[in-house]
Amino acid sequence: MNIKTLIVAAVVAATGSIAAHSQNPGQPEWLGDAVVYQIYPSSFQDSDGNGIGDLPGITSRLEYIKSLGVTAIWMNPIFVSGFTDGGYDIIDFYKVDPRFGTNTDLVKLVEKAHSLGMKVVLDLVAGHSSDQCEWFLQSAEAENLHYSDYYIWPSFKPEEPASNGPMDYAQLMNSSASLIRKFVKTDAPRGPYYVKNFFDTQPALNYGFANPDPDHPWEQGVDDPGPQAMRRELKNIMSFWMDKGVDGFRVDMAASLVKNDFDKSATIKLWQTDLKKWFKENYPDNVLIAEWFNPSQSIEAGFDIDFFCHDGTYNYSTLFFNINRRSGGAATCYFDLAGEGELKTWYDLYKFQYDAVQGKGYVSMPTGNHDFTRLSAGARTSQDQLKVAMTFFLTMPGVPFIYYGDEIGLTHQSNVKPVEGAGARTGTRIPMLWDASKNAGFSTAEAEKLYIPQDPDPARRTVENQESDPSSLLNYVKNLLKIRKASKALGNDGEWRLVSSLDQPYPMVYERSRDGEKCLVVVNPSAKKVSVDIPAYGNQSPEILGGFYKKASYKSGKTSDRITVDGCSAVIYSIK
Ligand code: NOJ
Repeated sequence: MNIKTLIVAAVVAATGSIAAHSQNPGQPEWLGDAVVYQIYPSSFQDSDGNGIGDLPGITSRLEYIKSLGVTAIWMNPIFVSGFTDGGYDIIDFYKVDPRFGTNTDLVKLVEKAHSLGMKVVLDLVAGHSSDQCEWFLQSAEAENLHYSDYYIWPSFKPEEPASNGPMDYAQLMNSSASLIRKFVKTDAPRGPYYVKNFFDTQPALNYGFANPDPDHPWEQGVDDPGPQAMRRELKNIMSFWMDKGVDGFRVDMAASLVKNDFDKSATIKLWQTDLKKWFKENYPDNVLIAEWFNPSQSIEAGFDIDFFCHDGTYNYSTLFFNINRRSGGAATCYFDLAGEGELKTWYDLYKFQYDAVQGKGYVSMPTGNHDFTRLSAGARTSQDQLKVAMTFFLTMPGVPFIYYGDEIGLTHQSNVKPVEGAGARTGTRIPMLWDASKNAGFSTAEAEKLYIPQDPDPARRTVENQESDPSSLLNYVKNLLKIRKASKALGNDGEWRLVSSLDQPYPMVYERSRDGEKCLVVVNPSAKKVSVDIPAYGNQSPEILGGFYKKASYKSGKTSDRITVDGCSAVIYSIK
């Protein structure tokens, strides 16, 4: 062992971790070993007994979040809102909604998180406001006023152009046909239509059009005064919160800003040459996370992280959705005991994104989020299955994102009544389950007053009963994060390569490596015991670093090595 290795070994022995700095040039160093925990604020912890979660509630749970091994939290929107889309319809971008507390409560939360060594990321809804926002009300007036050009007011509705083939998520949100479908009829003095971004209550903010059509007088160019003023406002919003200590943003529908921008070049340019440039110059240690769902574009635009998740072309539906996100119907997926899934669809899409951003930014596969079915759902609710899935999520490259409750296997509730525009998404936004007290410690309100009803199962998993059980999912997740932190190979910047064949999807085996350190991760979500041959690593009897398995064997051969694992298991090997 050379002296450097000795020092590293001593640090790991003492702290159980290696401080990893992001290897991507220009990115905040703390991203190198960041682990983000996503909180849906209405559902995490209620501190004032009204049945809805709030900021002081979140503050009171920061020690718990820290105990998981998490280094940053991201909260869904907490600003004054009409709540027709769970807070994504903002009325006042500069003020915390009274339901969650005050701006001062946010500052207290940030200060406490910082004192615990954690960062705080807010949601930046850049593409739209509420139709009750003062800016929109003023823009709807016939007169030319301060906010008049913050929105888009078509004077007539053009014919929808014929569809030109399949579109990806960004195009779906922003093609000219879908833009016309986003014209909302109104009797506002300003004109007969406005353009929305998502629901009718969410008028799109005006960042201009990629190629304004001279026959459409409402289409302003990106450099016109209205869109320029809009960008200044967005920077103001960001500064306002970051000057209070906030560490960055997850940007909602980040690809949607410039309209009729079919190849996204104008939206990429807007972020790259202006918004992100300004951000980097003024807040170099802060983070910008895209909700773009196409890292090859968003990382080029300057974002640090983008998601590979449930939506659009670049998604992981084939891995996890044995419940169809929208219809609730059954579908075959890879993470299912039936063992009938395939890997190729996901692999091709993921590999494309991984290669596209390697060394520049991160592709993150979150364990879940507020828009799609929870990991624990349908035919995948047992602790054993969830341990296998979590092994996958927490040994993949990129910054891990844990959706609140996934660490205890909070189970999707498909039969709850929709709230606040959530529709079918309500079942994933359920209140956290903490302990055996009233409403599982979430709130002291009467059960009927809770934001969304809780899982009624008497045997439901809670933080309390999971903390005291050494074999729980919660303790497994904590341990996985410790293993990740102690290994450069398994960390955010470690390289990733599938070593098993797509022709034999169970088990999947991938290699993680960095600076000469190597790990193999074997994942078998099927109920069957399986064996796989992988190219020989050369006389190995690898050490097992962790995982969930009863029996696992690794036999070295001349040309190939054979790994055999039980049904529903996952193993992490260290390769010397
Ligand atoms: C994406 C958010 O994740 C979703 O919850 C919201 O409804 C839309 N953007 C509109 O803001």
